[in-house]
Amino acid sequence: MMQAVSSLSNHDLRDEIKAYWSRRAETFDTQPGHEIFSEDERRAWHDLLRKHLGNGDGRTALDLACGTAVVSHLLDDLEFQVTGLDWSEPMLERARAKAAARGRKIRFLVGDAERTMEPDASYDVITNRHLVWTLVDPLSCFREWHRVLKPGGKVLVVDGDFVNPSPLTRLLKQLTGFAARLGLARDAVHGPLNAEMAETHNRILSSVYFSKGARADAVAALLMEAGFTKVTIDRNMSAIHRTQRRNFSLLKGLERATQHRYAICAEK
Ligand SMILES: C[S@@+](CC[C@H](N)C(=O)[O-])C[C@H]1O[C@@H](n2cnc3c(N)ncnc32)[C@H](O)[C@@H]1O
Repeated sequence: MMQAVSSLSNHDLRDEIKAYWSRRAETFDTQPGHEIFSEDERRAWHDLLRKHLGNGDGRTALDLACGTAVVSHLLDDLEFQVTGLDWSEPMLERARAKAAARGRKIRFLVGDAERTMEPDASYDVITNRHLVWTLVDPLSCFREWHRVLKPGGKVLVVDGDFVNPSPLTRLLKQLTGFAARLGLARDAVHGPLNAEMAETHNRILSSVYFSKGARADAVAALLMEAGFTKVTIDRNMSAIHRTQRRNFSLLKGLERATQHRYAICAEK
């Protein structure tokens, strides 16, 4: 039995976040909403990336907190020259294996998105999906991304507020839980580790900067404070959610579609 990460000494919040994702690496790509399960969904993601970043045309992209490299592959499809960075080795192991299996030339780095160690003005584009909600110090992190981008370069944040469900989302979540107990919404439960992992997840969430929820406006304001301009919030993720719904139970798909999810694009 693995020791609970919270009981280890000399273990700070960042270590706990890293350990949490390392344990989730094994099943990450089996879950809809993480890996892509249809060509329709892939197209919807391509459309979102193209809408904000354009085609790659050989430009350089840094996919931060790449995990198993789902977004890195989408950028590679669009002909960006992609570097994926994550601080979890188990995530990167899977990312490297997937890229090798698909014959993709994606470069992977172990590192911290808050301190990339990459040279000044070295990337045309920075992306990250589902990273910002878990950042310990987002303002200094956004300043770091500003440093690493070339002038005119763009950052695209894809994230959400998972702390403040709307009344409708809350209702759907309760119904999903109820359906799961009847065995009707299998995607609401994630195996025997579920209770312990959920507890770790909630502890992390209560300790990070956006513990009250990563609202799009607050993230956009911090990007501006870090020096970004032309900050636009895109709340229209419906094409992606529609295609994902087929891989979720009915209630889970509806719950997801009603969450506060968004993409934010900003320029250096
Ligand atoms: C929800 S997963 C998202 C993975 C991927 N971006 C995707 O959307 O499929 C979060 C990832 O962020 C990574 N992560 C969290 N904070 C990080 C940091 N400060 N530096 C590097 N990676 C980080 C975790 O290791 C994990 O792989």
